[in-house]
Amino acid sequence: MGLLDGELAIVTGGGAGIGRATCERFAQEGARVAVLDIDPESAAQVAADVGGVAVVADVADPEQCARGIAEAHEALGGLTILVNNAGVGAAMPLHSYSDDDWGRIIGVNLSGTFYAMRAAIPLMRKSGGCIVNNASLTGVRPTRYEAPYSAAKAGVISLTMAAALEYAPSIRVNCVSPGFIDTALTEIVLVDDERRAIVEKATPLQRVGTPEDCANVILFLASPLAGYVTGQNILIDGGSFLPNTQADAVLQSFVARNTKDS
Ligand SMILES: NC(=O)c1ccc[n+]([C@@H]2O[C@H](COP(=O)([O-])OP(=O)(O)OC[C@H]3O[C@@H](n4cnc5c(N)ncnc54)[C@H](O)[C@@H]3O)[C@@H](O)[C@H]2O)c1
Repeated sequence: MGLLDGELAIVTGGGAGIGRATCERFAQEGARVAVLDIDPESAAQVAADVGGVAVVADVADPEQCARGIAEAHEALGGLTILVNNAGVGAAMPLHSYSDDDWGRIIGVNLSGTFYAMRAAIPLMRKSGGCIVNNASLTGVRPTRYEAPYSAAKAGVISLTMAAALEYAPSIRVNCVSPGFIDTALTEIVLVDDERRAIVEKATPLQRVGTPEDCANVILFLASPLAGYVTGQNILIDGGSFLPNTQADAVLQSFVARNTKDS
């Protein structure tokens, strides 16, 4: 018997990284999964691997996002779990971000989460369900050079808590806040052994996190084990939130090497 037997789940950004690991973990625990991603190939690949369905949509586009949620709901024959995981980031001084950079980072991370929740909640209200949003440690403790991303993720945490209040008791809404996790999103920073070692040293648990570390916590929040948990934000950061300034050094050296500061 699995923790998610009979559950019907949508995972946005399910084509890679933490989203992919979440699709795999959910399927292992008995859920039927819709892999919603902007990238058709990775969505199709993960859907095939987990015996689920692929849905292609850009969550930052309100119409595409609403259509994607409706399509996934139809293909699954219902909806009981939504994981808002799609996200994009960038690292540069605040004054270097263009309108497009700002629009994309807020659009995917914050607006995309809002659009998907707005579309999914009416589909879940009758039978109940739960939502897990993927925020970030930067949403709790902003990171130098990631101002738009930090602001977007702080918004995701706030959106999570507001929705938890509004939709209790029928829908539980929680979020996770990963620290440094080994995915495509962090490969610009974890480019070599030297920088990886700096992150590891600055992390109390002495390693970079894995997508599976995150998938396990998302699984917990989506499962009946968290039946009395709503409006919470769980940090998956190896203890990095605890006072420590060394992790910043990695981003500082990256930005110094890669941007021309005017
Ligand atoms: N990797 C980390 O260290 C880390 C840390 C904190 C938070 N997070 C958050 O975790 C989530 C997953 O990140 P990841 O590291 O697995 O990234 P990733 O780049 O490995 O995967 C992101 C996935 O989202 C998809 N995606 C991107 N934009 C999309 C859009 N507009 N619509 C639909 N799908 C889209 C991509 O195609 C990709 O499949 C993100 O929200 C990210 O902000 C990651």
